[in-house]
Amino acid sequence: MTTTVESTKNHLMIGGMDTVKLAEQFGTPLIAYDTQDIVRQVKAFQQTFANHRIDGIVSYASKAFCVKGIYQLLAPLGVHADVVSAGEMATAFAAGFPASRLSFHGNNKSVDELTMALDHHLGTIIVDNFVELHLLQRLLQERDETIAIQIRVTPGVSAHTHQYIQTGQVDSKFGFDIGSGQADQALTEALADDHLEVRGVHAHIGSQIFESTGFVMAAEKLIELLTHWHEAFGYSAQVLNIGGGFGIKYVEGDDPQSPEDQLDTVLTTIEARLGNHHLEMPEIWIEPGRSLVGPAGINLYRVGANKRVPGLLPYVAVDGGMGDNIRPALYQAAYEPVLANHVEDSSKETIHIVGKYCESGDILVNEATLPVTKTGDVIALLATGAYGYSMASNYNRNPRPAVIFIDHKHASVVVRRETNRDILALDEDFKKSAAEAR
Ligand SMILES: Cc1ncc(COP(=O)(O)O)c(C=O)c1O
Repeated sequence: MTTTVESTKNHLMIGGMDTVKLAEQFGTPLIAYDTQDIVRQVKAFQQTFANHRIDGIVSYASKAFCVKGIYQLLAPLGVHADVVSAGEMATAFAAGFPASRLSFHGNNKSVDELTMALDHHLGTIIVDNFVELHLLQRLLQERDETIAIQIRVTPGVSAHTHQYIQTGQVDSKFGFDIGSGQADQALTEALADDHLEVRGVHAHIGSQIFESTGFVMAAEKLIELLTHWHEAFGYSAQVLNIGGGFGIKYVEGDDPQSPEDQLDTVLTTIEARLGNHHLEMPEIWIEPGRSLVGPAGINLYRVGANKRVPGLLPYVAVDGGMGDNIRPALYQAAYEPVLANHVEDSSKETIHIVGKYCESGDILVNEATLPVTKTGDVIALLATGAYGYSMASNYNRNPRPAVIFIDHKHASVVVRRETNRDILALDEDFKKSAAEAR
């Protein structure tokens, strides 16, 4: 559990530190992570692999939260990471994360991005489509180099989750289709090319998945495919990558099976099915993003204005909003709010917690029941660590917040708060064309 309540002060604590003091020291809005919560979840995944005596790779999906600090936290744990852009790659390199432990994902990798990946000898390219496959082949031929790849397929399984974060169904922009023979074609072409070491197969079926059924179905499909590849092409995969998507608890009522329990069930299925098909156990890879960093993070905001109209719920405005967390506005994501400087109180009221951005939809929490708030209070939203800062924007030219890591009761800044100078850094003066000036 990342957060606790300090009983005498009635303050919310994260990683053993008082959130009210953190808000004072580092300013608000502030994003704070309990590093040990991230470490605990990594170890829980690794232990699950160990319990099954399976060589397992935990490959952190960087998109959930990509700053140098997270790579520096994860690297000593033996974790891999996947990146989806030159920017994520550059961040990992700047953090000193080993390139050999990086995988490059994406449905539209550019020439420059693939070249960057090859220049740095990335561990794996997860090939998504024929255009990319052919481009990669051309680049490798020109350089006379080899690289390890995994072939991403769409297993035709859709996890029970919000439609915008479903990626495993057949009608998806990601991966080679299995039923129409595209996956077979990709394998055939890749195997025929000496510049490609085809390590295995990859699928990702969605996100915020609460129980293992979808993973089990996907794993079964992948094993069917590997059996077919073995029989038809004599190909033995060294890697079976089942992607990420393990769900987390955001609000009361969310009751996900723990990520490690979901993994445990999938591994049991994989063991049984491979045995049935007389296939050797490959390395099993998972790509958790949300489940590693989501529960470990909180957002802290200071309360400013409020609007109270008789007969309507009050609007309580905080100093952040959709710029630091777009998820509620984007797909009605729900978060648990806490009045950090006065967690428990018998008198409570129901309010809308809104941001400061010029959009009526900038509502962080609809109908939150909290102790009565006043200007200057600190409100925390819990479990904001995934897809919050990584999707942050400068809408309304607001600076993005600072991010701190709490590590063994020591707080340090891993991303400093943006300033107006940062915001203006890319702007150039407009000069009228000479013709018009005349
Ligand atoms: C290919 C792939 N792997 C892993 C993930 C991480 O998913 P999650 O953060 O839900 O674990 C994603 C998320 O979209 C993804 O597209």
